[in-house]
Amino acid sequence: MSSSKTVIIRYTKVNRINHWITAICFVLLTLSGLAMFHPMLFWLSGLFGGGQWMRAAHPWIGCLLLLSYLGLIVQFWRENLVHKNDVEWLKQMRFVVANDEGHVPPVGRNNAGQKFVFWSMTLLIPVLFFSGLVIWEVYFGEATSIPVQRAAVLIHSLAAIAAILVWVVHVYAAIWVRDSVRAMTQGYVTPGWAWRHHRTWLREVANGEHGKDVIRKRP
Ligand code: HEM
Repeated sequence: MSSSKTVIIRYTKVNRINHWITAICFVLLTLSGLAMFHPMLFWLSGLFGGGQWMRAAHPWIGCLLLLSYLGLIVQFWRENLVHKNDVEWLKQMRFVVANDEGHVPPVGRNNAGQKFVFWSMTLLIPVLFFSGLVIWEVYFGEATSIPVQRAAVLIHSLAAIAAILVWVVHVYAAIWVRDSVRAMTQGYVTPGWAWRHHRTWLREVANGEHGKDVIRKRP
């Protein structure tokens, strides 16, 4: 297996399209949500053709995000199950941040940081969706009382802040670990990348234990 001639398929085309639809929805929701959150940020509504268009679009984009993220859950839940050595990895995380992964236990397909992002979003996106339904005046305004809607606004805002923080961690990690972004744009990583960041996964792929993650000639 020569590292210059072979690559490992990490994400299929369906995985990647689903991921980027999720990412676009999330960014649009963040921009429109922030514009509604504070008057200082209302200028962001210009990106959506003004306040009214933005207010009408935001909940629909939220529905699309939920559907899209459900697609990611179906595709990725199994590889994000938490194992004993995830705790060990978290204890050694300072070495990952220092780009010195030699001291970190070998990692399977996903590390504990990726699992944290996955499960946090799995919790936060439904919370955002259901609290959002309660405050979607045009369709559900009559369905609940004002105190319930006030509580929903608070929950919606807190969940949004948490999701944005998790997203910042996710994007930072994606940029920090060189060549990760290529995995999500072109679908593949090199054996050297897998050896460095996901050694157990590399062994499993070499043994043919991951159905869709296969070794191929470099495109
Ligand atoms: C717009 C900015 C984003 C960028 C640049 C980005 C980048 C990436 C990259 C590079 C990977 C592959 C990591 C690897 O295989 O090592 C990835 C995976 C993933 N991303 Fe994103 N992402 C973004 C937004 C999002 C959002 C908003 C969500 C969810 C709400 C999300 C959820 C995921 C999930 C679930 C995976 C797969 C990890 C797994 O196997 O569970 N991403 N992303």
